[in-house]
Amino acid sequence: MMRIAHISDSHITPGAEFQKEVFYQIVREINSEPFDLVVHTGDITDTGLREAYEYSQKMIEPIKKPMIIIPGNHDSRNVGYELFEEYLGDLNGVYKGEDYILIYVDSSISDRNEGRVGSSKFEWLKSQLVKYSSKKLKIVAVHHHLVPIPKAGTERNVLFNAGDLMDLFQRYDVDLVLSGHRHYPNVVSVDGMVISNAGCMSCRKVRAGDVCSYNQIEVTPEDITVTIKRLQSSREYKSPRLKSEIFISEGKKLARIVQIAGTFFSDHKIFERRKYENAVKKINSLSPDLVMHCGDIVEKGIPHNYDLAHKYLEAIEVPTVYTPGPRDINYIGYELFPRLTGGWDQGFETPLFRVHGVNSSQYDSDVGAVGRFGLRNLENVIKEQDQEMSIVFLHHNVVPLPHIREKGLLEDAGDVLKSLCDLKVDLVLTGHSSYPYATKVDKTIISNTNAVSCQYVRSLYGNSFNVIDIYEKLINISEINSLWGSKRILGIWRRNSR
Ligand SMILES: [Fe+2]
Ligand SMILES: [Fe+2]
Repeated sequence: MMRIAHISDSHITPGAEFQKEVFYQIVREINSEPFDLVVHTGDITDTGLREAYEYSQKMIEPIKKPMIIIPGNHDSRNVGYELFEEYLGDLNGVYKGEDYILIYVDSSISDRNEGRVGSSKFEWLKSQLVKYSSKKLKIVAVHHHLVPIPKAGTERNVLFNAGDLMDLFQRYDVDLVLSGHRHYPNVVSVDGMVISNAGCMSCRKVRAGDVCSYNQIEVTPEDITVTIKRLQSSREYKSPRLKSEIFISEGKKLARIVQIAGTFFSDHKIFERRKYENAVKKINSLSPDLVMHCGDIVEKGIPHNYDLAHKYLEAIEVPTVYTPGPRDINYIGYELFPRLTGGWDQGFETPLFRVHGVNSSQYDSDVGAVGRFGLRNLENVIKEQDQEMSIVFLHHNVVPLPHIREKGLLEDAGDVLKSLCDLKVDLVLTGHSSYPYATKVDKTIISNTNAVSCQYVRSLYGNSFNVIDIYEKLINISEINSLWGSKRILGIWRRNSR
């Protein structure tokens, strides 16, 4: 067994926001418990100034355990990253434990709040994961969070390339990721990889009336348990380590859903008619129960494009529901979208599942939002449904995707993701960023589809759409190439038991 005290965002600085007594209280707790390692995931100082580093060095002296500290955005303010090396140690590196490794990475950008793991550091990180691939336990520490955090307000500040890092870590079987930054503790499991986000250790700037906290982590061969240790209370999160092997029979097939986005109807070359027509032939031949269009139906929200949409969409021979992308509602699309589709926030019901559509698009902006009011409504209808499965669809991404800067995320992605995971929504379908991707966060499968017939794609496999097959025991998500109809599996997951 291995035990880590995961602390973050102490914001040590003379005066200001720093709460010295709280800091000492947590240090006493850490010293009195059998932790093997203390990891501080950044923002150790508030200002990155020399006085703050001097003070930090003094404050951490009483910690009597091996300790790794990585820099946060605050530590790099005023070119503080140079002082970080002088007072605290390397910005990046590998800590080798007996049977584990911890790779720590500086994601700060001087004088900016958002983070980045630049291309050469990304390659270094990858080389370390290759080098230590045989280690039984692989841990990565990085200040900026990978997955959106609840209670983060509109300030997203995730890593520019969070999706690439997530993808890399999953390819190399990283077991545990440690982060901080948002001053709100949160733990999720993404396809079995546990992401521990520590709250604020000793800074007054907590969120939503919370108190200071740190995370206690216990790793055994069977599972990883993260306990969020607030000053007055604690909450445990346990995730099994052994990735479940799917050699079980799939059982009876219950439903098939086709997920499309980015049809991009227009007279421009950007709309690839042949791909659309071939895709529709294939979709009809698959006889799905439902087609779910996750937005960007038209290239621009103008009458001519909507006329084309009326014409082309008629070719789909199965029930179809729609949620708008930003392109569908710009210009006069806001008037034309409901005329084409029958309304906003569309739903669909079968005895097995209920579909809930949410309009996350805003005029003239790539950034989406569900909003507090919209999220509350959504939570209420999900709680009231009778069917065993719930499916939510919206245009914008709720988790970061590879090869895409995080700007496509929802402004309130952290709150939306947390709420849908807490409600154990079975499937969340999105259609932004033209990249096919599927993953599972806690009990919720998230599937993003590529553009079906728009020239702007980010996958070498070409334009595609997703097919989601729901069996008694499994859910299988594949992408199908729009032009050729060839198929590639994006993921297979066990269905949630009820
Ligand atoms: Fe911070
Ligand atoms: Fe930070």
